[in-house]
Amino acid sequence: MAARRRDEITRRTFLSTSLAATGSALTGVREARAGGRRGRLAADGGFPKGFLWGAATAAHQVEGNNVNSDAWVLEHIKPTLFAEASGDACDFYHRYRDDVALSASLGLNAFRFSIEWARIEPEPGVYSIAELDHYRRLLAACHEKGLRPFVTFWHFTCPRWVAALGGWENAVTADHFARYCERAAKHLGDLIGAAATFNEPNVPVLLEWVFARLPQNPFANADAVLKAAARSIGAERFSFFVFGNGEAARDVMLPAHHRALAAIKSGPGKYPVGVTLAIADEQAVGDPAPRDLKRQKLYGPWLEAAGRSDFIGVQTYTRARVGKDGDLPPEPGGELTQMGYEFWPEALEQTIRYAAERTKVPVYVTENGVATDDDTRRVAYIERALAGVRKCLADGVDVRGYFHWSLLDNFEWNFGYRPKFGLVAVNRGTFERTVKPSARRLGAIARAGRLEA
Ligand code: BGC
Repeated sequence: MAARRRDEITRRTFLSTSLAATGSALTGVREARAGGRRGRLAADGGFPKGFLWGAATAAHQVEGNNVNSDAWVLEHIKPTLFAEASGDACDFYHRYRDDVALSASLGLNAFRFSIEWARIEPEPGVYSIAELDHYRRLLAACHEKGLRPFVTFWHFTCPRWVAALGGWENAVTADHFARYCERAAKHLGDLIGAAATFNEPNVPVLLEWVFARLPQNPFANADAVLKAAARSIGAERFSFFVFGNGEAARDVMLPAHHRALAAIKSGPGKYPVGVTLAIADEQAVGDPAPRDLKRQKLYGPWLEAAGRSDFIGVQTYTRARVGKDGDLPPEPGGELTQMGYEFWPEALEQTIRYAAERTKVPVYVTENGVATDDDTRRVAYIERALAGVRKCLADGVDVRGYFHWSLLDNFEWNFGYRPKFGLVAVNRGTFERTVKPSARRLGAIARAGRLEA
């Protein structure tokens, strides 16, 4: 029955729309099956043909009402670490067609989104065909509009039943995750253009590093919060990736990545599968040894895992200056973003070079962006970051795409809706989208394939 419904969706939704639609959508699929093509920078500085240009999103941050997820529980208990609850978010769950069409109309040729485990497997071993079909329709909408769909299988949130088992701090989660990936890939794989198993699995180790140097740990009462969450769902424990023990999670997630990768690659479809990492441009101030130690701790094991995958997804927002006693504060007088860190678009060039050199696999920039209310600063950020990407390409670094974070002003986790990362503003009362000049600028660059657009 499930197989028949899937076939129906394939015929009705994908074939009737996508196959009858533009040739570019089909070309996208063929290139994806070939695992992407390595392009060269044109002599006149143009980006390679086939370079992916997109915006990135994540289910919990845009869909709305992700009620079965661990994050939803944490947003609704007391005490909480969240400034506000995600609620309806951007109502992307219902408005994805318009957002996909908007991305295409801007000039982009790819779109990154995540599928939500908490929706797809609401109870252990119970898979929702209706939710999987929802993501099939989203994938089909991308093809219809000529956007290569880049799918993240996990972007920070788990079903609440996984949290109650101890989340990524319990090795059994690797079994559940591999099974979920296999099930989802089976239903969706023929429409996927590229995939990441995990989004930034190194985040908790990174946060532990950063927080250890702050006078006050922003997650100091995480234990009380997790206890309250466990009580609220009648469980004995509750774990949330972002607030959890980073090293324990890493030991479960590393093997889970390789198992998930194999499960996703079991088909259908043939597309590159990798993992994305949060990487800052780590700049040594004085002796490079402390910087190198930090890099090894935050990135080492994951770079090794990415090197055994089809690509590495680089996600860079800023730089970090590392002295002998750890990270140094931002330089006095420097420009800061709404997140409190430095406005430093040049970081991207350095992190691409570092990731490519360490992994020897192709690079996709899967996130890069800036939180600001001043969109002229976003335009500047994009131009300067892309100038760095172009330098990498000129030096023969195999960079295959750039996804800006984010398409929409969305739910920035514990910070709530205050930080504005979007190329497109969202009215919080009506969900109306307003395209910002930065979206038009990125779209024009993408359409022309050159910064001089
Ligand atoms: C995450 C996103 C987040 C963004 C901006 C990345 O670490 O993948 O979910 O919104 O950074 O902070």
